[in-house]
Amino acid sequence: MPAFDIDWVRAQFPALWQEVDGQPAVFFDAPGGTQVPQRVIDAMRDYLAGSNSNTHGAFITSRRSDEILAAAHAAVADLLGCDADEVVFGPNMTTLTFALSRAIGREFQPGDELIVTHLDHNANIAPWTALEERGAVVRYADIHPEDCTLNMEDLKRQLNPRTRVVAVGYAANAVGTINDVAEIVRLAHGAGALAFVDAVHYAPHGPIDVRALDCDFLVCSSYKFFGPHCGALYGKREHLERLRPYKVRPAPEKTPDRWETGTQNHEGQAGVAAAIDYLAELGRRSGRLPAASRRAQLLAAYEAIRDYERGLSVRLIEGLLKIPGLAFYGVREPARFDQRTPTVAIRMEGRTPRELAEYLGGRGIFTWDGNYYAINLTERLGVEASGGLLRIGLAHYNTAGEVDRLLAALKVIGRKN
Ligand SMILES: Cc1ncc(COP(=O)(O)O)c(C=O)c1O
Repeated sequence: MPAFDIDWVRAQFPALWQEVDGQPAVFFDAPGGTQVPQRVIDAMRDYLAGSNSNTHGAFITSRRSDEILAAAHAAVADLLGCDADEVVFGPNMTTLTFALSRAIGREFQPGDELIVTHLDHNANIAPWTALEERGAVVRYADIHPEDCTLNMEDLKRQLNPRTRVVAVGYAANAVGTINDVAEIVRLAHGAGALAFVDAVHYAPHGPIDVRALDCDFLVCSSYKFFGPHCGALYGKREHLERLRPYKVRPAPEKTPDRWETGTQNHEGQAGVAAAIDYLAELGRRSGRLPAASRRAQLLAAYEAIRDYERGLSVRLIEGLLKIPGLAFYGVREPARFDQRTPTVAIRMEGRTPRELAEYLGGRGIFTWDGNYYAINLTERLGVEASGGLLRIGLAHYNTAGEVDRLLAALKVIGRKN
């Protein structure tokens, strides 16, 4: 396998060059939002400098805007493995999911059911529980608390002929678990339900193929995969055409425009396309394929990212498990690392997660503490009342040296207990 060119990768991201008190900053906050390559910044600035306009006008900047937005839809389509008209942009995953759940809920009969999971971010729970106002019944699939994986038997038990939607995360933002999404989609369809996948946490770490998954909807957020703050939703064309979104009358009736309520974040979409181009270049540089389509380059990039991140995960998790007084939440055996992203959650005896995050933050190491909106999970694990978890979230721009710095810092604070 060709070596992963980490120096080239890091050189793309200007934010990584920052220092805190003379030490290089360590960005282990990726699940809350990743840093962006220079080309994303350039694309957004260029849009505002040279193309800034509303759409469908009879003049050049408007035409440029139309082209840039079309290119952004095509780029996300390559990322997800669908057609450009099946890509709906919006402000973020949460807003898109509320809009979709409202549209789906319009067709509900009292007693219709939905399934969500205790592993998920609340943005994949609250839009569905909102339908309780219409008489819907929401069921919760449980987890195995010992390794924070989804309890598939429990999920199967909740499914029944009244189930209309199964909403599941591709990967858990709090603990990194990757779900068997293809199997969940199969089960949902077997019961006659729609399958909705929240791929926000998964998208920076692994390849997505909506056709192979056969999911009905899948949503992601570009600020989690090296782009700006912009959300994108995939929907099967038949659903996007048939369902009735809440929209203004003069807005086009065709898909995806009918779902893209109001004026979109044009400069953001320019940035999304640039982030996807960055990933495609990473794929071309990985040496894993002869020059091919952008989709093939993206798949090669994810293969390279997965191999590299797996090495970092092994180093990180093996190191963490050796620290006395440290509790680890999630999949820990390297042989099962295809079931996790490089996002790990811990607690340490005698310290709140906030104290740990502050200690590390003071040493230039950025981690998150709390529930990160995966509040059902922190409640289920019994840690919500005592500050939640400390989340160490790696991306492919992190290094083994950074992992070692974190482990050394945690060992020092562990000894102070
Ligand atoms: C797994 C997951 N789903 C959904 C969201 C919400 O995404 P957005 O901020 O785009 O609304 C997040 C954000 O942290 C997330 O990690």
